[in-house]
Amino acid sequence: MVDPKIQKQRELLPIFPYRQQIIDAIKKKNLLVITGETGSGKTTQIPQYILENFPECRLIGVTQPRRIAAMTVAKRVSEEHGTRLGNEIGYSIRFDDCTSTKTRLRYMTDGVLLREATTDPKLSNYDVIIVDEAHERTVETDVLFGLLKQTYRMRPELKILVMSATLNVEKFSDFFNKCPTMDIPGRMYHVEINHHRDAKISSLKSTYIERAVDTALFIHQEEPPGDVLVFLTGQNDIERACRDLEREARHLRRSDIRYGKHVKAMVVYPLYASLETMEQRAIFDEPPEGTRKFVFATNIAQTSVTIPGIKYVIDSGFVKQKSYDPNTGMDALLVVPISQAAATQRAGRAGRTAPGKAYRLYCRESYEQMDEETIPEIQRSSLLGTVLSLKKMGIQDIINFEFIDPPDPLLVTNALRQLFLLEAIDASGRLTSLGDLMTIFPLNPFLSRVLISSAKEFNCSREIVIIVSMLSAEEVFHSPKNEEKQMIAEEARKQFYHSSGDHMTLLNIFEAYRDCGHDIDWCRERYLNHRALSIAKNVREQIQDIMEKNGLPIISCRRNENSNDEERTRKKRKTYYRETKYDPEPILQSLATAYYIHLSKRHPHRPVFYHYASGAASESVDSNSSLLALHISPTSALYPENKVVKIESLDWLIYHAIVYTNKALMKTVSKIRYNWVEEKMSLFKQLPKTRLDGSEVANKESGQNDDMSENDPVKKNRRIEAIAAA
Ligand code: CDP
Ligand code: MG
Repeated sequence: MVDPKIQKQRELLPIFPYRQQIIDAIKKKNLLVITGETGSGKTTQIPQYILENFPECRLIGVTQPRRIAAMTVAKRVSEEHGTRLGNEIGYSIRFDDCTSTKTRLRYMTDGVLLREATTDPKLSNYDVIIVDEAHERTVETDVLFGLLKQTYRMRPELKILVMSATLNVEKFSDFFNKCPTMDIPGRMYHVEINHHRDAKISSLKSTYIERAVDTALFIHQEEPPGDVLVFLTGQNDIERACRDLEREARHLRRSDIRYGKHVKAMVVYPLYASLETMEQRAIFDEPPEGTRKFVFATNIAQTSVTIPGIKYVIDSGFVKQKSYDPNTGMDALLVVPISQAAATQRAGRAGRTAPGKAYRLYCRESYEQMDEETIPEIQRSSLLGTVLSLKKMGIQDIINFEFIDPPDPLLVTNALRQLFLLEAIDASGRLTSLGDLMTIFPLNPFLSRVLISSAKEFNCSREIVIIVSMLSAEEVFHSPKNEEKQMIAEEARKQFYHSSGDHMTLLNIFEAYRDCGHDIDWCRERYLNHRALSIAKNVREQIQDIMEKNGLPIISCRRNENSNDEERTRKKRKTYYRETKYDPEPILQSLATAYYIHLSKRHPHRPVFYHYASGAASESVDSNSSLLALHISPTSALYPENKVVKIESLDWLIYHAIVYTNKALMKTVSKIRYNWVEEKMSLFKQLPKTRLDGSEVANKESGQNDDMSENDPVKKNRRIEAIAAA
C-alpha cells in the first residue's frame, strides 16, 4: 500500500511538475542526459516514472557510485512504491544482492554493473540503464561510459540515461553522440559567500577542524535560526568535531557568556558513508523548536545526500580523496584541497529552502587558485582492477579505449606493469590463464592472485580465504579516543599478535571470533570492530562459493596436533595466540606470490625499511638516502614497542598498504624469507620497457604550481622519485 503522506511528499519535489515532460523525452529518445540540483528528486523519482509508465520494460538498472546510496535509495523507493525491498525494487552491491526474479528496478553500484558487462557486454537483461551521480566521475562510472557506448552500438534499442548534478553537462552529451539534455530547474535561493580574511588553504591542513568548530559556535551565537552543515573530510575528523562542539557549547553555557541570541539548544550529528549514520533518520528531521541542528559531514553531503533545512554551510576546503602514489604503486587516501566546482556545490547546500550563508575557512585568493573542476578519479588512481577487467572484456588497447577523459598513460603503463608482475598478463599484454582466473573474484588483483596460489600451490586456501576476507572488510581494531581505554585496547590486541606478523594475526582474530560464537560483546570487550568481523564472515562465505564453483579447492594447512596438550601449554603461556595451530609458512608464501611487489628491506643501521622493488632500488637501498623511509604501523604485531619480535630479527617484510600520517606507515605487515620470492624478483627485470620515464614525470611535476605540494606526501614522493631517476 502506498502511504498518502509519502505520495504527498513525492508531489512536492521540484521534479514533479516535469514528470510528463521527462516521460515523453524518454519515450522519444534512447540517449538522454538529465541534470538538476541535488535534492530535486532525480534518483528517487525518475526510475519510478519509468516503472509506472513503461509496462513493457523488463529491468531498469540504476547505478550509484556509493554502496550506501544504492542501499538506502532502494529502501526509500520501495517504501514510496509500497512494496517490500527486494521484490519489485531491490539493490545489488558487491557481496550483497537484494533482488529477486520479480525485480524490475535495481539500484546497484557502478562496479556491479561493470562486472555484469564483463560477462554480458550487451547487458541483455536490461531495457533501461541509468547512470546516476555521473558528475562524481568514479573510475567505474567512466569505464561504464565507454562500455555503454559500445553496448549501444550493438543494441540501439537500449535506453541510456545519464543523470548528474548541474555540472559538465556538455561533456556527457558530447560523449553520447551529442544527445539531448534536459535540466530540472531547482529552487535555489541566494547564498552569501564569506571567505576567511587571510587564511591560505596551504596553512589550514592542521587547523581546519578547530576553525570549523569555532565558526560553528560563532554561527550558533550570532546568526538567526537555521541549521548548519559542516564539510570535513572523514570519520575521525567528524567525530572529533562533534565532540569538540558539544564540549565548547557546554562550556559557553557554564561560563554564562552571552549565549545564543536566537537559539538556545543544539543537536549535533555526524554523517559519513556508513550505515549507522545514514539510517539515523533524525538527521533528516526538523529539530525541535528553538534548537539548532549541526551536521558534520564528508563529501557525501555535497551531492548525494540532501539534508533539509540547512541555512549555513561551513566549508573546510578539504576532501579525502583516492590518489595514486607512484612510490608504492598503490592508491592512498589523502586529504587534499577541493576544486572550485566542489566549493560552489557545497555553498549551494545552504540555499535549498531559503536564502543562506556559506562560510569558507579559506581566503578568496586560495579559492581562486583551486582547480576549476575535480580531477576525475581515473586520472588519479592505480587502475589495477580496472585494467584487468578491461583486458577480460577483450579490450586490448587500453590506452586508446573510448574514455570520456582518458587516464594518464603513465598510470595505465603502471597498472600493466603490476599485472605483468602478478602474471595476469604476458609480456605482450595479453591476459594469461592465471589473469583470466583472477577476474572471477570481485577483489583487488593482488588478493585474487593470493587466493589462487593458496589453492593451487600451497594448500592453505582455507586460511587465505579468511585472511583475504579480513583484508577486504574494514579496520578490525577499534581505537578508542580515551587514553585509559586506549591502553586496554592495546592490551587486548596483544593476545592475538602472531610472531610472523599481521596476516596471521588477522587469522587468529577471525578464529577466536568464530570460537566465541560470533559474539558482539566478546568483540566489544576486546575493542574489535564487530561489524568488520561480521562483514569478513560474510565475504568469506562468498569467496569460498566462488572458489568452489570455479574448481579451486578449499584446503587447510592446520597442523595435525595432539591438540589438548598443545592447547594447554599455549594457555599457560600468556601469548596464547602467538603461535597457532597453523604452519604460517605456506600462508605467507601464498601472500608473497603477489605481495613480493610490496617487499621492503630493513635499513642496515636504522630502524626503518625501504621499498625493495625495482632492480634499481634493490642495489641502492644501502646507499641511497633519497628513498622513502617506511615505518611499521603502531597497531602491527611487528611494531617494535609491542615487543612481540625484535626489530633486528626483521629483514624482509611484505606489506598490504602504505598510509601516510606524518610518516609513511606500512599497514598489515608480515615477515618473509627472501628465498621465497627470489625467483619472482626476476620478473622485475623482464618488465617490458615503459612508455614514460622518470624525467618526463619530473618535467610534468615541476610545471605544476600548487602550494600544497610541500605537505603532500604523494607529491613529495613523486619529486623524490623524479630526482632519484634523473
Ligand atoms: O537525486 P536527487 O539529488 O535529485 O534527489 P533524490 O535523491 O531523489 O532526493 C529527493 C528527496 O528524497 C530529497 O528531499 C531527500 O531528502 C529524500 N530522500 C529520503 O528521504 N531518503 C532517502 N534515502 C533518499 C532521499
Ligand atoms: Mg541523486
